[in-house]
Amino acid sequence: MMDLDRIPDHIGIVMDGNGRWARAKGLPRLSGHNAGMLAMKEIVKRASALGVQYLTVYAFSTENWKRSVEEVSGIFNLLVLYVDRELAELNANNVKVRILGDYEELPRNAVERLRRSIETTADNSGMCFCIALNYGSRDEIARGLRAIAADALAGRLAPAEIDEALIAGRLYTAGMPDPDLIIRTGGERRLSNFLLWQSAYSELVFSEAYWPDFTPRAFEKAIEEYQGRERRFGGR
Ligand code: IPE
Ligand code: IPE
Ligand code: MG
Repeated sequence: MMDLDRIPDHIGIVMDGNGRWARAKGLPRLSGHNAGMLAMKEIVKRASALGVQYLTVYAFSTENWKRSVEEVSGIFNLLVLYVDRELAELNANNVKVRILGDYEELPRNAVERLRRSIETTADNSGMCFCIALNYGSRDEIARGLRAIAADALAGRLAPAEIDEALIAGRLYTAGMPDPDLIIRTGGERRLSNFLLWQSAYSELVFSEAYWPDFTPRAFEKAIEEYQGRERRFGGR
């Protein structure tokens, strides 16, 4: 049974397996991404209802540009569709949208939708729905380090002041708690450049389900598995 008093504050999800879900059904990859978007919508609703404070979903990595132009632009079109369909309900549910990653590099209509969703939900106080888009941890850390080096060079910062908290404050996740739980669907057991700094002590739960088949009930099962873990943070 899930303990409603011990819901993780921050859950990260690597939503993997859309392509294989489609292939198994003899459908084009984009049908898989469309089904994945529908699954995401349900998980966002359940997470918000359970009182999760931060839900971070990995939607597009800095490495996913290696895919075909058709697939990449199809994914961004689905994102536009998602925002158009869901923004009103997200807002009604007091959800605050945040983007992790350099989303200015995306096509113009996607950037415009994302800006609108951030602005519309800016004052909401409910769950923070963080979409990792054009996100990669190594890129995130490199950007943070460049900013820190520029500050040091300009005399605004002494090297001795560079500590873990200062570095964390220069990442896309500045001000957010580290993820307590990271779920990866699709059967692979790796992080694929997702929240590498932030996941130092995250509990990892892997699901064999392809992302479009990952139900709110499966999400709750992952939280139950998390609740059965003993977190030690290096202590004893
Ligand atoms: C995850 O599903 C979605 C994105 C990476 C955008 P995939 O597209 O990676 O699906 P598989 O891993 O090929 O099945
Ligand atoms: C991770 O999935 C990225 C997203 C879910 C957005 P990938 O499918 O890109 O990861 P690899 O290639 O299997 O490591
Ligand atoms: Mg994949």
